[in-house]
This record gives sequence, C-alpha cells and structure tokens, in this order.
Amino acid sequence: MNQEQTTGHPHIRPGRSPLVERTERATVGQTTVEDPRISCKNVAVYYDAKKAISNINLDIGRNEVIAMIGPSGCGKSTFLRCLNRMNDTIEGCTVSGQIFMDGKNIYDSDVDVVPLRAQVGMVFQKPNPFPKSIYDNIAYGARIHGLVQNRDETDELVVGSLKRAGLWGEVKDRLKMSGTSLSGGQQQRLCIARAIAVNPEVILMDEPCSSLDPIATAIIEELIDELKQDYTIVIVTHSMQQASRISHRTAYFYQGDLVEVGSTDQVFLNPLHQLTEDYITGRFE
Ligand SMILES: Nc1ncnc2c1ncn2[C@@H]1O[C@H](COP(=O)(O)OP(=O)(O)O)[C@@H](O)[C@H]1O
Ligand SMILES: [Mg+2]
Repeated sequence: MNQEQTTGHPHIRPGRSPLVERTERATVGQTTVEDPRISCKNVAVYYDAKKAISNINLDIGRNEVIAMIGPSGCGKSTFLRCLNRMNDTIEGCTVSGQIFMDGKNIYDSDVDVVPLRAQVGMVFQKPNPFPKSIYDNIAYGARIHGLVQNRDETDELVVGSLKRAGLWGEVKDRLKMSGTSLSGGQQQRLCIARAIAVNPEVILMDEPCSSLDPIATAIIEELIDELKQDYTIVIVTHSMQQASRISHRTAYFYQGDLVEVGSTDQVFLNPLHQLTEDYITGRFE
C-alpha cells in the first residue's frame, strides 16, 4: 500500500496497521500469559434473560495489576464479581464458562466459596467498614477463617495488616473507635487492611477511588503499587489516567465484550481496535 492510500483512509495512519473494525467483537491483543494466576475460559453472565458479558477469555498473571476499563454498563463489575463468585449472591444471575485459579476451576461443585472469597478479596467503590471498632474490622474475618488462635496472634495480625495498608500511623492510638468514624480514604485503607488480613492471593477492586479526593486517591494508588509485589490486583477504574499510572495490562470492555487487552502502554498509545481508540480519544458513535 502506498503512502497516499494509507493516509487517505480515516482508520489508517502511516506506519500503523489498520484498526480492527467496530463490528468485530472477538478480543484482540494478548489474552494469555505464561503461568497465569487466573485463567478465564468462555465466561458469560446473564441477569435473567439479559446478557451482561459473553465470551470472555482472559489470563491474569501473578503479581500483575490489570485494569478493567470501559463505558458504564459494559460489564466491568459483572466480570470482577465472577472472579470470587460474588455473582452467586445475586438473584437471577447465571454464570457460565470456567475460571481456573492455580489450575482449579472455581465453579466446580466442590469449591467452598467462603475460603475462595478470602483468597480472592474484594474492595468496593464505597468504603464499607463494619460498624465495629477499627480493631474488630480486621480481627473479625481472621477469626472466622481460623487464622488466629489467641489475643497475641490477633494483635499481631491487626497491627501487621494496618501497617501493610499504610494506616497504622493514623489509627494506632484509636483502635477501639468505630471504623465508620474514619475519613473516606482511611475507611478504604481499612477495607484493604481487612482484605489483606485473611491472606488473599488476589485483590479485586471496583472503582476503589471513585468516592475519594485526589490526595486520598494518590495514597491508595501508592498502596496498590506496593501491594502488587505480593498480590494479583484486578482493578476496575473509570479513570484512564489511573489505569495508565498503576496497571501493567489493561482490558477494554464494550457492551459486554472484551474488545481488547494488552500492555497498558500499548492499549493507550497504540490501540489495535477502533472501539478502543474511540474510547481513549473520547469519541463515541
Ligand atoms: N444485579 C443486577 N441485576 C440486573 N442487571 C444487572 C445487575 N448488575 C448489572 N446489571 C446489568 O449488567 C450490565 C453490566 O453492568 P455492570 O457489570 O454493572 O457494568 P459496569 O460495571 O461496567 O458499569 C448492565 O446492563 C447492567 O444494567
Ligand atoms: Mg461497575
């Protein structure tokens, strides 16, 4: 193709391959990774008869931060909830396909969801500490999961989890105060500390900063950067800036399809799909 033809077409820029057309909905990009922590095969979710997501094939690596982006209603939260079977709790919701975690399909009938949800912890959009003391917010789950046997062990776990979540310095003198008395950013770190306390491998975060101010957001982003050394982090964000600051890979969802996935730099700087480019340039049709 000569230069004139290349620049003459609206979807083709010089030096770049043509973008995949908007009507094509098979996922483009790198969906697989070597030695994945999580491997999704043909995952689909319906709410009653309405399809929310379909044909999701995606590996998630160990010690990876992967961002889920896309317009509101495209299925990001639905997909996230598949990863610890939270959709099981929603009336009328049906999940099909397979999700392997370290080789085991978490949808097998012999899987106990209680330990699964400790192994794959979740942090929500709105911080949701229990109406209990800061101390008990952390100790509660650890006791239920039998991770602590006595007061000394519990103290150690509470202190360690708060330190890990970057909250210890701010709360060490008021552990008996209610978790709900903290600021929004502190509450969100308390929820992260609570997730960490039960020894997870994966932490799911659904727009964890959307109710926070820029300073609290920056603190959470720094924390994610540290936590990635020990945990796999799957984060839904409506902020493309946030995705590009914190994630290794980015997955772009559109109308229930996983349209594109790749390294965050590639997806933002050199998208392969026209729909991805529409989104990152702020153009919708
Ligand atoms: N509990 C529910 N019951 C019925 N429909 C739902 C429920 N949750 C989400 N949906 C629908 O599923 C689709 C995907 O929603 P969601 O996963 O929340 O998208 P996102 O997180 O990307 O905004 C939307 O059409 C939404 O209306
Ligand atoms: Mg959502």
